[in-house]
Amino acid sequence: MSEIDSLKAQLQELQDKALALFADAANSKVLQELRVAYLGKKGELTSVLKGVGKLPPEDRPVIGQFVNATKNALAEALDKAESMLAEKEKALRIEAERIDVTLPGRKSAQGALHPVQQGLNDMMAIFSQMGFEMAEGPEIEDEFHNFDALNIPAEHPARANHDTFFFDMEGTADTKLLRTHTSPVQIRAMQACVDAGGEPPLAVVASGRVYRCDSDVTHSPMFHQVEVFQVDKDVSLANLKGVLQHFLSAYFEKDVPIRLRPHYFPFTEPSAEVDIGCVFCNHKGCRICKGSGWIEVLGSGMIHPNVLKAVGIDSSVYSGFAFGLGVERLVMLKHGIPDLRLFFENDVRFLRRMGSSK
Ligand code: DAH
Repeated sequence: MSEIDSLKAQLQELQDKALALFADAANSKVLQELRVAYLGKKGELTSVLKGVGKLPPEDRPVIGQFVNATKNALAEALDKAESMLAEKEKALRIEAERIDVTLPGRKSAQGALHPVQQGLNDMMAIFSQMGFEMAEGPEIEDEFHNFDALNIPAEHPARANHDTFFFDMEGTADTKLLRTHTSPVQIRAMQACVDAGGEPPLAVVASGRVYRCDSDVTHSPMFHQVEVFQVDKDVSLANLKGVLQHFLSAYFEKDVPIRLRPHYFPFTEPSAEVDIGCVFCNHKGCRICKGSGWIEVLGSGMIHPNVLKAVGIDSSVYSGFAFGLGVERLVMLKHGIPDLRLFFENDVRFLRRMGSSK
């Protein structure tokens, strides 16, 4: 075979092989490598061209045309294969990223306030709408604020009734305890007023956790109270009754009858326990109110002169009322919850039902 025919045959073979490889290329990266392998400076075509130099000069233009035709055929086939692959890859990508908009959505669980927190918020909102200012006090209290200043001296039997958690603090005279009620906030709020050189009127609402060494169906070692008091000139039992009537009707969202029943608290004189018409039987008498038609909801009274004296407020000029209530108890009554422990077990079925009831 002449030199030129042999070159032509080589070119034809190279082209056939290349076109087959281009058509088979799995992806555009492989194709790119093939482009370099065939058309690149050190590629197959270049090495065939090296043989052209050996040809007689009159044959060179002939083979030149042939080389060009091959080059064009390869370039064209590469472009075509490239655009086909690009189409294919795009289709694959679209398929892989396809979103089925008819599938059901993934719901994110919605949280809700704990029923006790919800109750607290409702109560605080009612009192602040009535003009009571919010105050806070520490959960770790001292005997002065929790007892002495509230007219519960050291040997007073009421101290024993409070089932107090004391801290064991050796070597200090300053005994600390977990507050057994929110009444110490009365003392702190009145002291703060007096210390700042102020004087009544004072109308304060405070809420928070209280602790008692006590646990059964109706008692938990930690529970929440709301404490309310007002001190001014000429505050009377009638003011107390009016505030209670408004608050209880607003909280229970209906006109509830109330009655004040004489009672004893060391920090109030006179003192009264407050009952509401039973919310379960509409005041008619049922198992829950033991047939009486009344349910006890809180303790109240006119602030004892000794309490005002303890904080330096002149009881011959000022008088005040105070009351304190158990938040869990009121929430239980409002929603007919039978067991106090449900609040602390955090069973999601209970929490969900309560959370959606608002
Ligand atoms: N501190 C009392 C208790 O925890 C509740 C109470 C009764 C608060 C009468 C008062 C009140 O402010 O006047 O049992």
